[in-house]
Amino acid sequence: MKVNGKHYRSLWWVESRGELEIIDQRWLPHDFRIEALTTMQDYADAIVEMRVRGAPLIGATAAYGMALAMAQDPSDANMDKSWDFLDRTRPTAINLRWALNRCREALRPVAEGNRADVALKLAHEIADEDVDICHSIGQHGLALIREIAAKKPVGEPVRILTHCNAGWLATVDWGTATSPMYQAFDAGIPLHVWVDETRPRNQGALTSWELGSHGIPHKYIVDNAGGHLMQHGLVDLVIVGTDRTTRRGDVCNKIGTYLKALAAHDNGVPFYVALPSPTIDWTVDDGVAEIPIEERDAFEVTHVQGLNADGKISTVQVSPNGTQGGNPAFDVTPNRLVTGLITERGVCAATPEGLAALFPEMAKVS
Ligand code: MRU
Repeated sequence: MKVNGKHYRSLWWVESRGELEIIDQRWLPHDFRIEALTTMQDYADAIVEMRVRGAPLIGATAAYGMALAMAQDPSDANMDKSWDFLDRTRPTAINLRWALNRCREALRPVAEGNRADVALKLAHEIADEDVDICHSIGQHGLALIREIAAKKPVGEPVRILTHCNAGWLATVDWGTATSPMYQAFDAGIPLHVWVDETRPRNQGALTSWELGSHGIPHKYIVDNAGGHLMQHGLVDLVIVGTDRTTRRGDVCNKIGTYLKALAAHDNGVPFYVALPSPTIDWTVDDGVAEIPIEERDAFEVTHVQGLNADGKISTVQVSPNGTQGGNPAFDVTPNRLVTGLITERGVCAATPEGLAALFPEMAKVS
């Protein structure tokens, strides 16, 4: 997507230096900073500190991390050590492990002397595939938005609520939840997006920045506003992303998603989840019982970061001195609250049958 007229992906390989560059998302939307990852520790820190974030993007980053590991020492021992090192960075989004597994399985049979080249090629492949997947999700989501628009008086916007940032910053390009929005807007369908701020890390500010850069009308709202807006008929549909969706269609996503799904259900608002297939965990059925939920540092809750009056990025404390914070980063929405899953192969019900019908080859081997 474009930033100041120039096309960017959220990460890219700099051939001349043999390095990966990323956008350090901790400073957005106020500052656009680019950073090179040059050591294994850089890769791990970038994921842990959420310089890169979003399930597909941390998967792609980890794949480049494996490529660096293979360039440094292509032995089996280092491959396993690096897999473990990167896997430990964040526990909830399954794309991270999916990418690491894909790399390890592909590299195992390769002669050590060729592993660095093969690993880098594979990382490029994973990144490019993500772009294609997200584009296809956008096409299927566009069809849904078009259907809703067709039932409205001409010129009235389709009002979409989204939570967190499942945008191009969270993927390699396009985004998952935002891809239908970009494609609908580009097709001339009037839109209005309600953007949840998504405390504590305020990923909604990233979504606002993205949508604003693309010219899509939107409003940045507090996390608790969604239920009220739905009760008053101001939301036509919800589209969110996911960090891990189970075989039966339970959806784990950013904390607060479950409450939006409950409010949508209570108000008859369709609740869709944009789901790239690498985010499906075919080994898990019951998301509430089985998905590990990341608990992040309480500092993220007791403090907020923003621009101060001098236009400088600064952090301030919002809770009283000594207050303990709690910071579960994700929650699980049971499949019964999900209207449909928008995948790269089409839209399906959030059921084992719905997912298996679209991805029979993956459902079978699990
Ligand atoms: O903690 P984050 O910012 O990495 O969480 C991101 C989300 O929850 C996204 O909704 C999800 O990863 C889907 S991104 C296409």
